[in-house]
Amino acid sequence: MCGIFGYTGPRKNAGVIVIKGLKNLEYRGYDSWGVAMRLKDGTLSSSKEVGKIGAVRNEDFSDESSLAIAHSRWATHGGVTKENAHPHFSGDQRIAVVHNGIIENFEELRRELEAKGHTFASETDTEVIPHLIEELLKTKGTTLHEAVRAACKRFVGRYAILVMDRTSETLVAARTGSPLIVGVGEKEFFIASDIPAFLEYTRTVEYLDDGEMVTVENGAIRFQNIETGEERAKRLVTIDWTIKDADKGEYEHYMMKEIMDQKQTIQRAVHQDDEQILKVAKAIETCLGCILCACGTAGKVCMAADYFFSVVAKRHVNFAPASEFPIYHHFLKPESLIIVVSQSGETADVLEAMKVARQAGSKVLAIVNTEGSSIARAADFTLLINAGPERAVASTKAATGQMAVLLLIAHAIAGKLNVGRTLLLEASGQINDMLNPRYIEHIRGIAQKIAHHENMYIIGKGWNYPMALESAIKIQEVSYIHAEGFAAGELKHGPIALIEEGTPCIALMGNDEFTADILSNIMELKARGAYIIAVSPVRHDMFDLWIKVPDAGAAQPIVNIIPIQILAYSLAVLRGKDPDMPRNLAKSVTVK
Ligand code: AGP
Repeated sequence: MCGIFGYTGPRKNAGVIVIKGLKNLEYRGYDSWGVAMRLKDGTLSSSKEVGKIGAVRNEDFSDESSLAIAHSRWATHGGVTKENAHPHFSGDQRIAVVHNGIIENFEELRRELEAKGHTFASETDTEVIPHLIEELLKTKGTTLHEAVRAACKRFVGRYAILVMDRTSETLVAARTGSPLIVGVGEKEFFIASDIPAFLEYTRTVEYLDDGEMVTVENGAIRFQNIETGEERAKRLVTIDWTIKDADKGEYEHYMMKEIMDQKQTIQRAVHQDDEQILKVAKAIETCLGCILCACGTAGKVCMAADYFFSVVAKRHVNFAPASEFPIYHHFLKPESLIIVVSQSGETADVLEAMKVARQAGSKVLAIVNTEGSSIARAADFTLLINAGPERAVASTKAATGQMAVLLLIAHAIAGKLNVGRTLLLEASGQINDMLNPRYIEHIRGIAQKIAHHENMYIIGKGWNYPMALESAIKIQEVSYIHAEGFAAGELKHGPIALIEEGTPCIALMGNDEFTADILSNIMELKARGAYIIAVSPVRHDMFDLWIKVPDAGAAQPIVNIIPIQILAYSLAVLRGKDPDMPRNLAKSVTVK
C-alpha cells in the first residue's frame, strides 16, 4: 500500500533508479505516482501522474541527478488526482516529501500552518509535512534532520515518510507503523517500503524500527530514536532473495509464476529446524488459550489450521480476524499464546492485534514470509515459510506455505513430527506432478465455460470449508466475479435460495469421512439447477466437470486450493482483468 523509494549516492541517474524501483513496487497497489529529483544545478524537477507507471519510459528521467524520491499512491485522503499524488512540496519548493500511512491530526496542523501564511495545493494529509518542516527550518541553525524530527513529534498516526532537500544531497526518513528499509551499497543508499525496489543494486539492508528515523548525509548514515534523539547502532543484514526470485521470468503475470512456484515452496516451508518446531508445539500445548489471528487469505489459512490442530493434534485453538482481535482483550492473559500469520509481515490490523496481545503480557508467535518485516521483529518468536517474494496481490504460494508450517506444527503437537513432514513432502511431490501444462489447460477450459457468469458459489466441509472461503477471495479479487464460499451443510439454511439454472457451484472434496455428506449437498444443488464443478480425488456421476486432485490426507486443503488459484487466474485473464494488480486492492495493507 503506497510505495516509497529514494536514492542518494554517486550515481548520476537517480531519476531512472527510482522510476525502475517504483515499477518493482507496483505489486503493492496504487492509483497514481510521482517523482522528484534534485538536478545538477540544484533545482528540483518533478512529475506526477494518475494511473499506472508501467508504460513510462525510464529514459524520460535520465537528467543528471544523484538524489531522487518516488512514490506510488493508494488514495486515502483526497481523490485520485495529479494534485493529490506525491511528492508534496514546501511553499518555498525546497523540501519534497513522500508518505505512506495517515497523519491523523493533519487538519489541526493545516489550520495552524494556514494561520502562518502557508497555502496548500492538495486535499491530502501529506502536504502538511513539507510545510511543517519548512516552518521549523526557519529557526536559525536548524538542520534538516532536526526539523524532520521535530515535525514527526507533532504527528499523530501511523506513517513512513521520506524527505529530500533541494539544497543538499541529504535524505531523511522516519517511520511509525509503516515499513521502511535502507539498502546499503558502496557509498550509496536506497530507502524503500520494500526490498524489491533496490534488489538490483544491493542485498545488504538495515531495518528502520518503529519510532526511528534515519539521515543519509555526505555518504554517512545515522539512525536515531525520534522521541529522544538517541543514536541507534544497526546490524547489516544480507537478504537471501535474488532478482530472479522477485522476477516473473517466462510468465505473463506474477500470479501464475507464483502458482507454479508451489512446485518447490511446500518443500521449502517444511524445511524447518525440528528443535524450533518442537519448541513451538510445546508452547501451544502448555499455554492457557491459543488464538490464531490474521487477515484475508492468511485468515482462511488460520481457519484451516483450526481443523489441523483439532483433527491431528486434538488441541482446541480459536481464530479471530485481526481486525476483530482487540475485542478479545478481556480473555488475554500472560499465559495466552497468539499465533499471527502474515505473508508481508506488515499488515496494520495484525500489528495492532499484536499490540493488544502485548498489553496483556501474552506471547506472540509469528508465521511470516518476509524476514525482517515489522511483524517478524515484533514477535517473541518467528517461523519463516521461505516461499520467496510474493508480488501478485492475490496470495498463492504464501498461503500454501503457511498451511504447510501449521500442519507440521499440528503433527509435532501430536508427537508425529516425522509423519507430518513425510505427508507434506509427499503432497509437495503430488503438487509438482499436478502443475503440468495439460492440467492448467484443463482448468482454463473450465474457466472458459463459466467466465461469463457473475455469481458463483463454493462449498466445502471440514478443512475444505475454509478453503471454500479462500476460493471465494481468490475469484473475487482477481476476476471481480461475485463468488461466495459456504460450509456445505449451511446451504439449506439460506444460500441455496441463490441457485438458479446453470449457476456454477464448486465443491471442494477429499477422499474422507465427509464424502457422503458433501455428495448429498451436491445433489441438493443439482436439484435446483446448479452446474457442478468438483475438485476431488475421486470422480462421481453427479459432477458436470471434474478437476482431479491427488488424495493428500490432512494436506488436502493445500492441494485443493491450487486448482482454484489457477481457475481464478484464468477467469481474470479471460475477463480482461490484470490478475497482478486488482482494482482497489494493495498487496500489503498498512492502514487499519
Ligand atoms: C490475498 O489474496 C489477499 N490479497 C489478502 O487477503 C491478504 O491475504 C491479506 O491482506 C493479508 O496479508 P498478509 O498475509 O500480508 O498479512
